[in-house]
Amino acid sequence: MIYQVQSYVGFVSKAKHKRRLENAFLKRFAANVLDKNKKYYAFMALELVRDKLLLDKELITVSDLGVGSKKLKANKRRICDIAKLSLKKPKFAEILFRLINDLQPCTVLELGTSLGITTGYMAKANKKAKVYTLEGCSEIAKVAKTTLTQLNCKNVELLVGSFDHLLPDVLKKKNTFDLIFIDGNHSKDATLRYFNMCLPHLTDTSIIVFDDIHWSKGMNEAWNEISNSSVISFSIDLFEMGIIFFNKNTGVKDKCTSILI
Ligand SMILES: C[S@@+](CC[C@H](N)C(=O)[O-])C[C@H]1O[C@@H](n2cnc3c(N)ncnc32)[C@H](O)[C@@H]1O
Repeated sequence: MIYQVQSYVGFVSKAKHKRRLENAFLKRFAANVLDKNKKYYAFMALELVRDKLLLDKELITVSDLGVGSKKLKANKRRICDIAKLSLKKPKFAEILFRLINDLQPCTVLELGTSLGITTGYMAKANKKAKVYTLEGCSEIAKVAKTTLTQLNCKNVELLVGSFDHLLPDVLKKKNTFDLIFIDGNHSKDATLRYFNMCLPHLTDTSIIVFDDIHWSKGMNEAWNEISNSSVISFSIDLFEMGIIFFNKNTGVKDKCTSILI
């Protein structure tokens, strides 16, 4: 917690308000993706399903293949607790929705489905996209399947197993991905490993979104390494999540822009 507070203070000291951005690409990004007043009808249906999960007291047995949750430790967990603590909050799920709605990617990959709410946001943002989502815990994946059926998300393929096991085949199957959301196994080594595994499967316009980039010292280090890497074009730090761009034709000069939202 202290670590996160220190990180946040560091972030705020260098972050720009979205109205202060000067580059045209970043201004457009802020207007199309970060504007919280841009609401879509799909948000209502998605939040109704989240509300149901938040009321669901059923206990399920969880096997966490990643570093696990800071708050949920027991291996028997209530669905409502997972819904409260593990899913992206509406504000950030909406950012992912608007990002996909704006870019219209054809192939999307999510590492860490959990209960499927953020998967639903991404699938509904572009119904023509194919969304692959990977989840290591079979009991959690069962709930996600129900979520995605309730949301009528027909463009999602949910794969159950460890990222390390599933990722090579998924990447090979589609060859290139337009958007990858990495939201599971928040350790430095795993994050860098998934980034390196994904690299050969990107195009110049692909984007990778990393969640919880300042969640721990290790995640901070992974984010610093990735956002300063010579293979990327530039990055945007929203504190809660970080977005990596490979497009060299945007005129964005700073390697990393932190934006207050
Ligand atoms: C933070 S939650 C994902 C939240 C989800 N993206 C959302 O916003 O709704 C992370 C999920 O990744 C899964 N996970 C963590 N490490 C994994 C690994 N190595 N292989 C497969 N799944 C893993 C966990 O079981 C957990 O459900």
